[in-house]
Amino acid sequence: MENFYVTTPIYYVNDKPHIGHAYTTLLADILARYRRLLDEPTFFITGTDEHGQKVQKAAEANKMTPIEQCDNTVVRFKELWDKLEITNNDFIRTTEDRHKRIVSEILQELYDKDLIYKSEYQGRYCVPCERFFTEKDLDEKLLCPECGRETEEIVESNYFFRMSNYQDWLIKYIKDNPSFIQPSFRANETLGFLKRPLEDLCISRPKSRLSWGIELPFDKDFVCYVWFDALVNYISAVGYKSDEDKFRKWWPASYHLIGKDILTTHTVYWPTMLKAMGLEMPKTIFAHGWWLIGDSKMSKSAGNVVNPMDMVEKYGVDAFRYFLMAEMSLGQDASFTEEAFITRYNSNLANDLGNLTSRVVKMLFKQREGVLPAPGEMTDAEIIIKEAALTAVNAMEDAIVNMKLDRGIEEVMNAVRAGNRYLEQTAPWNLAKNGETERLNTVLYTTAELLRVISGLLVPIMPEKMLKLRKSIGLTTDQVNIKDLKNWGVLKAGSNCIDAGPLFPRVDIPKQDNNKKKNNSKKKVEKKQENPVGLITIDDFFKAQLKTAEILEAKKVEGADKLLLLQIAIGEDKRQIVAGIAQFYSPEDIIGKKIIIVANLKPAKIRGIESQGMLLAAKNKKNLTLVTLSDDTPSGLSVG
Ligand code: MSP
Repeated sequence: MENFYVTTPIYYVNDKPHIGHAYTTLLADILARYRRLLDEPTFFITGTDEHGQKVQKAAEANKMTPIEQCDNTVVRFKELWDKLEITNNDFIRTTEDRHKRIVSEILQELYDKDLIYKSEYQGRYCVPCERFFTEKDLDEKLLCPECGRETEEIVESNYFFRMSNYQDWLIKYIKDNPSFIQPSFRANETLGFLKRPLEDLCISRPKSRLSWGIELPFDKDFVCYVWFDALVNYISAVGYKSDEDKFRKWWPASYHLIGKDILTTHTVYWPTMLKAMGLEMPKTIFAHGWWLIGDSKMSKSAGNVVNPMDMVEKYGVDAFRYFLMAEMSLGQDASFTEEAFITRYNSNLANDLGNLTSRVVKMLFKQREGVLPAPGEMTDAEIIIKEAALTAVNAMEDAIVNMKLDRGIEEVMNAVRAGNRYLEQTAPWNLAKNGETERLNTVLYTTAELLRVISGLLVPIMPEKMLKLRKSIGLTTDQVNIKDLKNWGVLKAGSNCIDAGPLFPRVDIPKQDNNKKKNNSKKKVEKKQENPVGLITIDDFFKAQLKTAEILEAKKVEGADKLLLLQIAIGEDKRQIVAGIAQFYSPEDIIGKKIIIVANLKPAKIRGIESQGMLLAAKNKKNLTLVTLSDDTPSGLSVG
């Protein structure tokens, strides 16, 4: 059995945590919980990145020493992780001795091997990102390519890590190991970055400019660059150079989970550092997308930062955990609004899952005094439910291993909906009225058994509510094992159930204040008048990710004259698209065609089939022509 070691980025302590931090940590937590459910030895760490200019500046602004700033802010992170029921096995702070000692030893070792050398640096520097740039990296305004803020001209002596030594090796490693950087389009981004000569990495800061950092062991006038220091957390936390057995057990990491903005540091700096140290590469660096607030970037200046604590206070921890996991397709950006949150909560949790549970539990109490009855013979209707449960277990297992969590959740919700349909078909309330005792027992037991599997699959996502659900069908534990979930008939007849009331009470979407509404519509009108022909900016255009794709398979969608179901490849990524082109193309006409698709469109269900993108076509009412490319165009290229 493989060991599973998962990490989150370690968070800067210049400010309190927001929804982006909460998301990665929740994702790691949920993956770790699932791996434990699969019986895999699991280690999950998170922590805080406490050195560097950002933290020093925040400390100055708050009139504190840097360590006071760290000690104060780290509490906010730890409180949030407690509140969100995060099950990390360790929490690493880069100001701890166990970490600083290892960074120092690594620096000395690389210096002794002449992999770190001193030289003069001249170039542009972005203070908030703590990154150096050469002028060719920047536009004419010399703004930081990462954050868009002004960069400063800097000339100083510094120490450099010979990162350039590893450029050819890294390119080959990424190409030879398709699972190393995920999703695959991120690997292409890194390979794109590596097309230009890789420069050596400046890994020091003179104390005269920045004193808050780990001192270089070979020059006390300098501290270590914060990224070099921070990345080492992934190995210092699991015993590198301090506990060999522990290190051997957990390294290499199974997953480094990161946000897309810190791809280069993790897929270029970190692998070359590890290579220089003679260590194995992490198995997968997985970059997720960003949470947008509506369609805007979240930022303090826009005043739209979502505080996870507020959401948890309002809607409860489980609903928050569920929403974040169900709403974001891993790898893509997602949009957060309170309205979307409530809509999903009401439809998936209050209506589908909450209703299924309450219908069964109410019947168990009304008809069977809260004791689970033994089932009679299974009919086809029960076999369908048993199969729906097994399909959900297999889909979730697959989703976890392939990082498609939202799809796994969707399959579990399909099983919930199958349960509700089963109740409508079998109508246990009528069975009770007609005195069909054995049939009623079978229906109640079958639905409870389905809920056992569903709740087991959702324990990692909603630990509190799922324990409550499990108690309501006579279980006493939230300890779940995948083998049990694949079995049927596990619930013991005669168990006592508990009716603890509604699991997910409905929530109303807050009514917008009338004045606000009026103002909003006024604003919309004003906007239209400013831009009467609906011009968009280049930024608007680039929101749509257009990619080249190849049609691998095509078939008609049964019962829908206009639809074809296409299986397509976008580079290594495979997707399906439901396209309204059946009246213009037959499946055999278009297999093998190279087309352009919108790759970041939110998946939608069309006639019950998920469509994961949209293809481009020119059309009017009578004609439709696919936008096609020459046969030798590779799939997966960006268009724009
Ligand atoms: N300290 C570095 C990481 C060092 S890891 C060795 C850092 N810290 S951070 O606090 O600024 O950001 C941490 C993570 O939050 C990043 O992965 C970033 O992508 C993520 N997010 C910040 N805003 C986000 C959203 N709006 N949405 C999702 N995640 C985002 O970078």
